Amino acid sequence: MSDAVDFIVNRTDLRQTAFVPGRDSLESDLDAGRVLLRVDRFAFTANNVTYGAVGDMIGYWNFFPAQDEWGRIPVWGFGDIVRSRHDGLRPGERIYGYFPMSAYLVVQADRVSAAGFVDAAPHRAALPPIYNQYLRVAAEPGYARAQEPQMALFRPLFTTSFLLDDFLADNAFFGARAVILSSASSKTALGLAFLCRARAGRCEVVGLTSPANTAFVGQTGYYDRVVAYDDVRSLARAPVAVFIDFAGNGALVGAVHRELGERLTYSCSVGVTHWEKMASAADVPGPPRILFFAPEHARRRIGDWGAAALHARVGEAMRGFLASTARWLRIVEGRGQAAVESVYRAMLDGRADPAEGHVLSL
Ligand SMILES: NC(=O)c1ccc[n+]([C@@H]2O[C@H](COP(=O)([O-])OP(=O)(O)OC[C@H]3O[C@@H](n4cnc5c(N)ncnc54)[C@H](OP(=O)(O)O)[C@@H]3O)[C@@H](O)[C@H]2O)c1
Repeated sequence: MSDAVDFIVNRTDLRQTAFVPGRDSLESDLDAGRVLLRVDRFAFTANNVTYGAVGDMIGYWNFFPAQDEWGRIPVWGFGDIVRSRHDGLRPGERIYGYFPMSAYLVVQADRVSAAGFVDAAPHRAALPPIYNQYLRVAAEPGYARAQEPQMALFRPLFTTSFLLDDFLADNAFFGARAVILSSASSKTALGLAFLCRARAGRCEVVGLTSPANTAFVGQTGYYDRVVAYDDVRSLARAPVAVFIDFAGNGALVGAVHRELGERLTYSCSVGVTHWEKMASAADVPGPPRILFFAPEHARRRIGDWGAAALHARVGEAMRGFLASTARWLRIVEGRGQAAVESVYRAMLDGRADPAEGHVLSL
């Protein structure tokens, strides 16, 4: 009997979920050039919920289709090649990349190199190329199996933190003396706060978070000041600032813009962790909200520096950050359908402990 299973989510109601027999399985017929991977372990954070919440807007549902109104949420993690009809890829090899929440995935391998390959399946062709790349872990500098949970969790998120910090520095922090981050307890915000704090002549790094998460955010040591959402009025004392918004909460964005008024020089929309409170903040005072999309900035830096140099810079910065996470991060590994469903629901409802990093397997 096949162990192939897909975790599917109703695209219009993320609370409706089901486990169904997998579209891809050991029994799949493989055409020439196709490769079957067993998805072994993947990270799950609010970023993956966001893929679902804005799936229609940005196209995240198109990576791993499902039937009718259902979709498969993408995740970052590791898989093993179990069958291959591409001469350059052999069973047994371990791969890092973008997977569905499924037990198996069939890809159309193309541009196979010593570093990895690209999934050239036609339905993925129009999507940002960074999501279609798969890495051979054996070719990854510094790869160690014991570090896979950290890599699955932080490689995509910290790359975003790095690109945000780089973008802000490139723009001289828009003349600000403070950087204000919402959903300050999120892993992407923590990475950005770590990097901003390390800059010479730096800005004050202010974290906005839920009252329940203020103690945790303070303990990480990455922020100069932690402000609870119900105390946004205290920003009246903040200097000229930039706002980096990971929460996407319309009411909060309005409150921050109003409190800072003309002292807000740039407002950046990165995420929607508060996905159920996502609302247009179009008529708030102050600067327009500018969307930050990491793959776009990565493409620009790859043009400037080359892919290898960007990869090396992110890698070096991430080593420093990962060493610092030892004082607050607990990796929690879960296996099987019940574990996957339970973490998914906790994340959806905002019940997940920010000190935990979930790594799952079906
Ligand atoms: N634009 C891009 O290119 C890009 C790239 C990477 C990530 N992102 C975005 O950055 C955001 C952070 O992602 P992450 O994976 O780093 O998050 P994470 O570590 O899982 O963040 C967890 C935190 O998010 C808030 N949160 C999560 N779920 C919530 C819910 N249902 N209701 C209310 N608050 C909730 C809480 O923070 P607080 O209590 O502090 O609010 C929680 O502690 C996501 O929206 C992600 O999509 C964007």
